[in-house]
Amino acid sequence: MKPEPLRLGVIGLGRIGQIHFSNLRGAIGNAQVVAAADPFSEARDLAANDGITTHATVEALLETPQLDGVVVCSPTDEHANHVAMAAQAGKHVFCEKPLDLSVERVQETLTTVQAAGVQLMLGFNRRFDPHFAKVQSVVRNGGIGDPHMIRITSRDPSPPPIDYIERSGGLFLDMTIHDFDMARYLAASPVTEIYARGSNLVDPAIGEAGDIDSAVCVLSFANGATAVIDNSRKASYGYDQRVEVFGALGMIAAGNERETQHQWLTATGEQRALPKHFFLERYEAAYRLEMQAFVDAIRNEEPVPVTGADGLQALLLGLAAQESMQTNRPVTL
Ligand SMILES: NC(=O)c1ccc[n+]([C@@H]2O[C@H](COP(=O)([O-])OP(=O)(O)OC[C@H]3O[C@@H](n4cnc5c(N)ncnc54)[C@H](O)[C@@H]3O)[C@@H](O)[C@H]2O)c1
Repeated sequence: MKPEPLRLGVIGLGRIGQIHFSNLRGAIGNAQVVAAADPFSEARDLAANDGITTHATVEALLETPQLDGVVVCSPTDEHANHVAMAAQAGKHVFCEKPLDLSVERVQETLTTVQAAGVQLMLGFNRRFDPHFAKVQSVVRNGGIGDPHMIRITSRDPSPPPIDYIERSGGLFLDMTIHDFDMARYLAASPVTEIYARGSNLVDPAIGEAGDIDSAVCVLSFANGATAVIDNSRKASYGYDQRVEVFGALGMIAAGNERETQHQWLTATGEQRALPKHFFLERYEAAYRLEMQAFVDAIRNEEPVPVTGADGLQALLLGLAAQESMQTNRPVTL
C-alpha cells in the first residue's frame, strides 16, 4: 500500500470537474489535488483561489512532479486523448463517462492503458449511490430470487444547453449510458438484445440538433431477465431517479431522495417534498464514494471497481440503441 496520500491532477473544471475537485479537497481520505488544467482562465481561477497550481494544458499538468493519477472531466470528445496522454505518462486515470463515442477509439485507448500498466476507472457514479448499491447487493445475494424484470427511470429536470447536446453523442450515449451500466450492474448477465424508441417532445431545438429527448429501451439478458429503461430530458417535478428489480421471490426498489423527508397529511390530501433537484444534490454521496473507491483501489494496488471494459459495454449498448431506433427493429448483441 502507498503510505502517502495519492497526488492527483484534475483535468477540466466545469460542472463535474468542480464536484470531484472539491471532494478531493476535503471529503476524500488519503488523496490530495496537486494540480488542475483547463484552457479557460475563469475555470482555472477557481482552483488557483484554493492555492492549487493550474495549467492551461494537459501536457503541462502531466509535468507535475510525483503525480500519481488524473481525474478526467473534460468534454466527452477530449476524454480518449486525455486518458491516453496520462496513461503514456504512467499515471492512473479516473475518467468521466463516456470514454469516447467510437468503439475503435475506445478499444485503442484501452490498449494504450493496458500497455502502460496503469489503471483506468470509469465514472459510472450511480453504482456508488447507497440506495442503488443496496438494491444490487440484495439481488446479488439472492434476496429476491432469480431476477425477472428490471425497471429504471431516469429523467432530468431540464435539458442541458444545445451546445452541450451537440457534443454529447446524443441521448443514448450521454444520458442512457448511465442506465445501461445500471442495468448491467443489476442483472449481472450479458445483454443479448435491445429495442429502443425515441422522440423529440421537450424542445424542438434538440430535434434540430439531431437528437431526441424522450426514450424507452427494452433490454433482454442472457439469464432471461428483461429491463425497461425510460428517459426524459425534462421532468417538470425535478430529477426522477428510480430502480426496481422484480424476481422469483420478491421485489426490491429504490426511489427518489427528496429535499426533505416529511409527509404532510390533512383532510384535503397528502403532500411530500419534491425529489432533489439534479445530479449534484441527488448523487452527492455517490460522487464522494466513487472517488474514494478509486483512491483506495490505487493505493491498495487492487483492481478499480468500474473498468474501461464496463465503459465499452455501455457504449456498445448505446450504439445498438441508436441503430434500433433508426431501423425500428430489435438489435442483437
Ligand atoms: N457522471 C456524471 O454524473 C456526469 C455528470 C455531468 C457530466 N459528466 C461528464 O463529464 C464530462 C464533462 O461534463 P461537464 O458537464 O462538466 O462539462 P462542462 O462543459 O461543464 O465542463 C468541461 C470543462 O472542461 C474544460 N475543457 C475543455 N477542453 C479542455 C481541455 N483540452 N483540457 C482541459 N479542460 C478542458 C472546459 O473549459 C470546461 O471547464 C462529460 O463527458 C460528461 O458526459 C458526467
